[in-house]
Amino acid sequence: MKNIIVTGGAGFIGSNFVHYVVDNHPEVHITVLDKLTYAGNKENLAGLPSDRVELIVGDIVDAELVDRLVKDADAVVHYAAESHNDNSLNDPLPFVETNIMGTYMLLEACRKYDVRYHHVSTDEVYGDLPLREDLPGNGDGPGEKFTAETSYNPSSPYSSTKAGSDLLVKAWVRSFGLKATISNCSNNYGPYQHIEKFIPRQITNILSGIQPKLYGEGKNVRDWIHTNDHSSAVWEILTKGRIGETYLIGADGEENNKQVLEMILELMNQPKDAYEHVTDRVGHDLRYAIDSRKLHEELGWTPQYTNFHDGLADTIKWYTDNKDWWLPEKEAVEASYSKNGQ
Ligand code: NAD
Ligand code: DAU
Repeated sequence: MKNIIVTGGAGFIGSNFVHYVVDNHPEVHITVLDKLTYAGNKENLAGLPSDRVELIVGDIVDAELVDRLVKDADAVVHYAAESHNDNSLNDPLPFVETNIMGTYMLLEACRKYDVRYHHVSTDEVYGDLPLREDLPGNGDGPGEKFTAETSYNPSSPYSSTKAGSDLLVKAWVRSFGLKATISNCSNNYGPYQHIEKFIPRQITNILSGIQPKLYGEGKNVRDWIHTNDHSSAVWEILTKGRIGETYLIGADGEENNKQVLEMILELMNQPKDAYEHVTDRVGHDLRYAIDSRKLHEELGWTPQYTNFHDGLADTIKWYTDNKDWWLPEKEAVEASYSKNGQ
């Protein structure tokens, strides 16, 4: 695998994957295809060697461009997406265009040139789970976490378009013999995450003298994984995964939002209750939890960043040290949230 295309490689998780491949797989050349929407940033790739990484600014919905690039590639790793639930509730159309039509264009090009395809998706396609305290097995029993066998039941326009894109991949594998794999990962954290998302929003709120904002009561649980662990898992699936298979990626990092916010406040030397409750997200998923045994048992993958408290401290340091990266966007992001009382 010498030449890979990484779509969305200038976004949060895609750029961390590009850094991971550059650092760990010196034989690989990466072509990043990224539209540079509000969520993409060239700076995320700054300093990477130009003989290893090329950025093509373009749209995955552009069939001609996609065809030209895929023709010469050994594999496509597809991260590009509209990725934020709250935006999808305000304006679903770009989600349908990029997440469904964009995936379709990539699948057709990979089919035409018989190119290996890996589809990066989300645990949100499965909908949500009851809270641990409301389950007979206390959250660890059979059926109490997501597996590759869990039925699809997405809640938001974002997660339904991701679910639709996963289903396209499954059909292209079965009907056209596409050499594809799918991964569904839980919530990532780490450097380069857009400040619209929960963790960086709260960190940059505190750094800007704004009160952190908790949706509803903050009981909703997310299964946090460091983005570098997501990258290593995707690499294992791309290179060793069985064609046609779905792998769930998670690192046993369940925390509710209130706990995460209190941890951020403690790490930033703020009083534990220095935040405000704001309007809850409509259709807000209650709990995500990943059973990643298939990935461990079949591919031997294990996460390296298992101490969430330490990972959060490093992430806080990154946002504190990189104010120039996020400050220009802060006012507009907060103005947009405040329109919805958030
Ligand atoms: P992001 O919003 O930070 O980045 C998305 C990138 O895609 C941006 O660089 C953007 O410019 C690019 N892009 C958007 N539309 C495009 C188009 N039409 N053509 C080309 N490029 C386009 O997203 P992220 O959080 O890094 O998520 C990346 C992928 O991982 C998504 O597919 C998402 O569904 C999936 N995922 C995210 C998480 C998470 O916690 N953030 C968890 C599991 C899976
Ligand atoms: O599970 C994987 C998914 O994780 C990915 O597919 C998505 O692309 C990614 O954005 C993320 O989705 P969430 O909706 O879980 O992430 P978000 O950061 O938007 O919110 C995390 C939780 O925090 C969620 O329960 C809503 C809550 N929240 C969010 C914001 C922005 C708050 O309480 N306050 C906030 O200000």
